[in-house]
Amino acid sequence: MERTLVILKPDCVCRGLIGEVVKRFEDEKFNVIALRMLHLSVEEAEKFYAVHQGKEFYERLTRYMSSSSVVSMVLEGENVMLRIRELIGATDPKNAVSGTIRKKYALSGLMNVVHASDSLESANGEIAFFFNDKEIFHYQRREE
Ligand code: CMP
Repeated sequence: MERTLVILKPDCVCRGLIGEVVKRFEDEKFNVIALRMLHLSVEEAEKFYAVHQGKEFYERLTRYMSSSSVVSMVLEGENVMLRIRELIGATDPKNAVSGTIRKKYALSGLMNVVHASDSLESANGEIAFFFNDKEIFHYQRREE
């Protein structure tokens, strides 16, 4: 089954939106198979977002992501990587489709509630950044 990595960003955690956002994922029948709250150091944020190094927003991004607690999680489900990206919407909420998480909750292109892996290859690397195999679980979803 396909997996992806999601981070609930400081603007999600600090505004009491953890439950709202996780509910959107669970309502789509995705399983949360790993979950952790942590406070990234600047160095960790720089490493996680190394692909954006050199971009004008890189320093703001890494400072922001290390400014407060975040929640990282692994989601599992059919076609989860692409479907989660659809559900969260465009990076900048001004460009996000109505009904998406970022359209509803994001404050700006930087403070945009949630990060999700953008390919299966990056999902594998991003999952390994936060979780080892023993921290990833499995369960059968029951609907009754
Ligand atoms: P995320 O999905 O975490 O991937 C990279 C992040 O960089 C993105 O969400 C935004 O938080 C941030 N970002 C991308 N583009 C911009 C931008 N133009 N201005 C500010 N922040 C940005």
